[in-house]
Amino acid sequence: MKISIIGTGYVGLVSAACFADSGHSVLSLDKDKYKIKLLSSGKTSIFEPKLKTLLKKNIKDGRLSFTTSFSRACNADLLILCIDTPSKKSGDPDLKNLNIALRQISKFLRKDLFLIIKSTVPIGTNEYIDDFFKKNSKFKVEIISNPEFLKEGSAVQDFVFPSRIIVGCNSKASKKIMKKLYAPLKLAQKKIIFMSANSAELTKYASNSFLATKISFINKISQLADLTNANIHDIKLGLGSDPRIGEEFLNAGLGYGGSCFPKDIKALISLEKKSNLPFSIFSVVEKINNQQYEIFYNKILRAFENSNLKNKSFFIWGLSFKPNTDDIRDSISIRLIKKLSPQVKHIYVYDPQAMPSASKSLSDIKNITFSDNSYHNIEKSHALVLCTEWNEFKNPVFKKLKNLKDKKIFDGRNFLEKSEVIDHGIEYIGLGIN
Ligand SMILES: NC(=O)c1ccc[n+]([C@@H]2O[C@H](COP(=O)([O-])OP(=O)(O)OC[C@H]3O[C@@H](n4cnc5c(N)ncnc54)[C@H](O)[C@@H]3O)[C@@H](O)[C@H]2O)c1
Repeated sequence: MKISIIGTGYVGLVSAACFADSGHSVLSLDKDKYKIKLLSSGKTSIFEPKLKTLLKKNIKDGRLSFTTSFSRACNADLLILCIDTPSKKSGDPDLKNLNIALRQISKFLRKDLFLIIKSTVPIGTNEYIDDFFKKNSKFKVEIISNPEFLKEGSAVQDFVFPSRIIVGCNSKASKKIMKKLYAPLKLAQKKIIFMSANSAELTKYASNSFLATKISFINKISQLADLTNANIHDIKLGLGSDPRIGEEFLNAGLGYGGSCFPKDIKALISLEKKSNLPFSIFSVVEKINNQQYEIFYNKILRAFENSNLKNKSFFIWGLSFKPNTDDIRDSISIRLIKKLSPQVKHIYVYDPQAMPSASKSLSDIKNITFSDNSYHNIEKSHALVLCTEWNEFKNPVFKKLKNLKDKKIFDGRNFLEKSEVIDHGIEYIGLGIN
């Protein structure tokens, strides 16, 4: 099939590479000329495991190319929209970029086609887009909701082996084309779940908000564990062993970040408010999430109770919102650095992939140094603060960490083994670890 993908970010680029690799002919469009130039020359605009190899292979084999031209992109059997839908101040998703793309598509459309919406959009958006094309195009555009569930850090794997594919559509033709689109992935039939577009849109929000709720739930339990001298690791094991609950997403820590959970929770809070629904579970989830990093921050302050923090320097491990990505959107680490830096002498940071994007976002901070590796400058730091659980931080070289001036580790992801840290003469402070 001839496919054009509109929006070449984390979702669009991975979709483009994976659909091309499954044999489709893919043209990937973005408004960002620099990004398209970079990608056309075989370089990647983002870090995502396995993506670079896949891109290179499919560009070389002629199944994947890039453009900024909507005129070229509209000459396809189907268009797949992967545009960003960030939060507005009100919490509602901002459809400005998506609307610009729709207008461009309507302008350059030359034939009937299918338009698949992969972006996470408010409930009713597919109906609205359907209406838009009925009003603004003489061609028949069939709108199909196909929300994406890939996770940054394992996006290629998730795309090729999805837990399910949600398709919101009405017509037989739409169902047929979606089966054809995903046929090369050789999925079990039951993995494609058909429903109405509104249900598909809400399924996406329900999934993300459920996962965010699990994170806030375990974080609240970790607060209780701290108050009661209990241990969150043991509680997680006991709780997660119940198959109805499961261990996934039960890691207490600094809370969720990234470009999806915070904005999708905000969208549901806004929807609840507009609908006058009483009691918002999502407002509580968001509040706990915001509280969690404040609790961690206060633990740092408390640990240095008798000293002036202005004389103390901190080494931060991890800047991305989660491991295996360079994405720092809504990263708790960045938030913590912005809060901590005015209070302390100096901040040293290291992240395996997110240093370039973080250096832009933290350019206003004067007392920060981007270190060459996880131990460079460790002897100038009083304490280590772990914010992102990259694998390479899992087994630290304690001989080097012993050079921390105050020998303290604040583990914002409960990632390190407390007993091992203590055995090396270093104080360990986690969340709900007692
Ligand atoms: N990132 C994730 O892990 C993830 C997972 C599932 C779903 N989603 C959803 O998918 C959507 C895309 O997310 P993302 O993280 O890939 O966003 P992104 O910001 O990484 O990428 C969006 C891309 O769209 C381009 N763009 C914006 N307006 C355009 C226009 N008018 N014409 C052409 N290109 C345009 C941008 O330049 C950018 O490259 C969002 O709705 C998001 O909620 C994201």
